[in-house]
Amino acid sequence: DERLSDEQLLADPAEKIAAVRGSRHPSIPLPADLFGAARKNSIGIDLQDREILAGVASDIRHARVTGQEAQGHDDVAGVVTRAVSGFAGWSATPLAKRAAILERLADLLEAHRGELMAIAVQEAGKTIPDALGEVREAVDFCRYYAVQARTGLAPVELPGPTGERNVLRHEGRGAWACIAPWNFPLAIFLGQVAAALVAGNSVVAKPAPQTPRIAARAVELAHLAGVPADALLLLTGGPDTGAALVADARIAGVAFTGSTATARRIARSLLEEESRPLVPLIAETGGINAMLVDSTALPEQVVADVVTSAFRSAGQRCSALRLLLLQEDIAGRTLEMLAGAMDTLVVGDPADPATDIGPVIDRPAYDRLMAYRESMRANWVKTVEVPRQGLFVPPTVIRLGAIEELRQEWFGPILHVATWEAGALDETVARVNASGFGLTMGLHSRIARAAETVEALARVGNLYVNRSMIGAIVGSQPFGGEGLSGTGPKAGGPNYLHRFAAERVTSTDT
Ligand code: NAD
Ligand code: ALA
Repeated sequence: DERLSDEQLLADPAEKIAAVRGSRHPSIPLPADLFGAARKNSIGIDLQDREILAGVASDIRHARVTGQEAQGHDDVAGVVTRAVSGFAGWSATPLAKRAAILERLADLLEAHRGELMAIAVQEAGKTIPDALGEVREAVDFCRYYAVQARTGLAPVELPGPTGERNVLRHEGRGAWACIAPWNFPLAIFLGQVAAALVAGNSVVAKPAPQTPRIAARAVELAHLAGVPADALLLLTGGPDTGAALVADARIAGVAFTGSTATARRIARSLLEEESRPLVPLIAETGGINAMLVDSTALPEQVVADVVTSAFRSAGQRCSALRLLLLQEDIAGRTLEMLAGAMDTLVVGDPADPATDIGPVIDRPAYDRLMAYRESMRANWVKTVEVPRQGLFVPPTVIRLGAIEELRQEWFGPILHVATWEAGALDETVARVNASGFGLTMGLHSRIARAAETVEALARVGNLYVNRSMIGAIVGSQPFGGEGLSGTGPKAGGPNYLHRFAAERVTSTDT
């Protein structure tokens, strides 16, 4: 197991971050005049949107970031005890009030946008557009789940024989564990927490050890919005802390987002103790996401969408494109155009608005990706220059002889490419499905029949046709996969909250 221990990860996060990113913790290394440097970003964000950018720049410049470390708890059993005792009061809080508190939290997130973005840039290496997206998505989750709760979790009168009243109620289950990854340290962290809370659960929230500060700030804002302190507790720590949390038999459910390997460990742990109640696990994990391109696709659009899908956020999105599958007759030309587009990418300081791609999250991730990339040197189709100082992994395209050669998720700006022959669309989708992952898939084609075929055959949670494969929008593109990619239900979708609630029916003879 190559994971770092809690002690190694948490030795001094601030110092570690400063060391790897060259930042000047606790101040935020942002340019004096963000607005002045605005230009069109080549991976999908229009930095000419002066109004938004001016607001963001001003927010960040005036952000007051205290620089304090996350004030979490390291006593897992003690934290769970508090969450268990906080459950009674919170679950008895009327649904309408819980929903209103989420909306107040959304307001607070908006009000603190600059500060939150500044932490995301510094702590997670997010580019400015990605940091903005992070706050927006967190706000969307809070508002969306508030609305969904009011309608979807309200008691329902069910039909029955005359003289009988049947009512279905949704209630909190108890103390939930919400375990988040570092790559959406605010949006995913808070999305899980908001859903669990509004459904009536108390929550122990464990962020990834790489990103404790933004999580700590989010929890503070949730308390300010009205969530009682013992209904939401922050538990900082790494894998050992997460494992101890899940192993606590008082935990009534787990919402986890992270790697497939960790999801398996959690599932095993939840079943280990014979006498433990059976509790729900929502696991959202990774993928080997493919995009199929046929000879009718528009080349310029394909290239723009490939660059965005594979390289934005330094490829550190679970949704990111990992495997580009080009119809053989267009492969040469498409790769030539892709190489040209990659030459325009700006890789560097995430706080610079001109930057398209920032660093990867930490040294272990950097070392892993660079070693793999090096091992595939003979198959490089294209790579680009990046700054020598810092954890910048050069965006790289690697040619494969067959789809089956890629059997694991490489969580960085590394794109694999293979070809398929005209007429083999069905077979190609089946070969992609065979990996067992089922998160996102893309198709570029102007043949309606091709889209219908892929829609019918693809075993993925999110299919994107003639567009990029990342950036699912809450309420419009409920997000999540199947198979090795997750259990469902989809985050940001109409069925998500129900998994967090206990369903109870009362039948009364009237
Ligand atoms: P990870 O699995 O290493 O860690 C995720 C979280 O689990 C962290 O908080 C970690 O401390 C905790 N953890 C680790 N071991 C644990 C254990 N045994 N018991 C309980 N908790 C434990 O993942 P990561 O590196 O932080 O995130 C990247 C992964 O997340 C990628 O595989 C990516 O595809 C996936 N991801 C999926 C989605 C999605 O919606 N499907 C979204 C974002 C990221
Ligand atoms: N929801 C994120 C995206 O779609 C993972 O990119």
